[in-house]
Amino acid sequence: MDKAYYVTTPIYYVNDLPHIGTAYTTVVADTLARHHRLKGERVFFLTGVDEHGQHVARAAERNGVSPQEWADRMVVHFTDVWKKLNISNDFFIRTTSPRHAEVARKFIQNLYDKGDIYPDTYEGWYCVPDESFWLPSQLVEGKCPQCGREVEILQEENYFFRLSAYADRLLEHIDAHPEFVEPEMRRNEVTSFIRQGLTDQSISRKTLTWGIPLPFDENQVMYVWFDALLNYISAIDYGIDDARFESIWPADVHLIGKEILRFHAIIWPAMLMAAGLPLPRQVFAHGWLTVEGEKMSKSKGNVISPYELIDEYGVDAYRYYFLREFSFGYDGNFSRDNMTGRYNADLANALGNMVSRVLAMVERYRGGEVPEPGSAGEETDAVLKQAAAKVFGEVDAYMEKLAFNEALQAIWSYLGAVNRYVDETAAWDLAKDPALAARLDTVLYNQVEAVRLTALLVLPSMPGTAEGIWRRLGFSDSVHVHHLPAAGAWGLYPAGQKASKGDPLFPRIEK
Ligand code: MSP
Repeated sequence: MDKAYYVTTPIYYVNDLPHIGTAYTTVVADTLARHHRLKGERVFFLTGVDEHGQHVARAAERNGVSPQEWADRMVVHFTDVWKKLNISNDFFIRTTSPRHAEVARKFIQNLYDKGDIYPDTYEGWYCVPDESFWLPSQLVEGKCPQCGREVEILQEENYFFRLSAYADRLLEHIDAHPEFVEPEMRRNEVTSFIRQGLTDQSISRKTLTWGIPLPFDENQVMYVWFDALLNYISAIDYGIDDARFESIWPADVHLIGKEILRFHAIIWPAMLMAAGLPLPRQVFAHGWLTVEGEKMSKSKGNVISPYELIDEYGVDAYRYYFLREFSFGYDGNFSRDNMTGRYNADLANALGNMVSRVLAMVERYRGGEVPEPGSAGEETDAVLKQAAAKVFGEVDAYMEKLAFNEALQAIWSYLGAVNRYVDETAAWDLAKDPALAARLDTVLYNQVEAVRLTALLVLPSMPGTAEGIWRRLGFSDSVHVHHLPAAGAWGLYPAGQKASKGDPLFPRIEK
């Protein structure tokens, strides 16, 4: 069996509700997973929740319930919103699941037996919201250097992971496989951090009970990040089902936000090296979203729930907007005006109108039955076919680089070519002259075929729209059973099939 294409999102803390920031990574991961499935690859797409740690415990306490009850209550918000966003994850990991704990305990025991985990006394600072340890020298004006919030003094007997021993090997690995950390600016951040020297990491907590107990010292629980990172291998049965594990691991890409880079590009690979496991092919860190120019935060009251935007714009417009507007890897700003503008221009006009116009003409001139091409091709036909022949390769190349916005631009430039074809061939003029009936047949067929390819092109980013177009084209199967490159060849639309215009895919939104 070929190894599956394995893509992951971070597992989200259950102390907060999902918002457009957390949904961003998940939508991106889903699009990537669907793109690979469309190419006929076996895919394993993982997302889930991070349920341990001090700030989950504190959120539960504030709400007067046990951490487990809290997690059980919160997890539903994540599974619900992913369902609503049409997220096609193959598994949903919860770190409170017995399977996860079993794998995590085996993993840590193995490192302990190998001497990579040892007891020592920790004295330093802890940022609870970030679940991060800091040395006094790392604090900025006495606060967490990452988020600027208050830190707490922490002094306890902990177990430490010998991270320092892996610095050279990490640098060698990144040197030999620069694609391991993307984008380049993040890679530079990681290498300069490693070059400053790595200190061993405290990986257990004595004062906390909400976590996975260490197998070699039941009085302590695993540090939440050590536990959390292991989700990527516990979800695929590491140490439990070797055949399954080996058919999925290593991950092809861990998609993460830039603030958790250190954990994924330094600690995680070192943990894997210590266990003798292959490293993921890539860790890709994306930027952060701001809202109308400001950082999203509860205190500012500007946190946007995905539901709000889905209700306003629809699921596929939601997915499209975030993929198209943000350059993956960089920070970006969300604004309603901007989203409405894109919706009307790209979705209502370029895509939605084109599909309606084409199918309306088939209804009007041929009673909905898509004709066999009737005349020899002309220059305009060749131009359209060339655009169709080119676009799939372009999209694939951009997707390979995780350049989602560029992949969509390539698709929209193809839609531009289709719209030009519709204008230039002017079926409405051909329809006036019965002597041009054969030419009209050709033009109508080509337009419909161009729409069929459009469904395949938008499938990863807008799966519902792809299916909606497929239905209008009169297919009785699902668009999701088809694969590229075979289905992307020109001329596969079965002439004689009935198509219908249906409702507008993206009704215009008045500003
Ligand atoms: N539980 C850890 C991750 C463990 S992975 C082994 C965690 N969870 S989190 O709930 O805080 O979510 C982190 C992810 O949410 C980030 O990686 C990032 O992808 C996403 N984002 C949260 N706010 C964001 C924005 N404002 N913008 C974009 N993404 C942001 O960290």
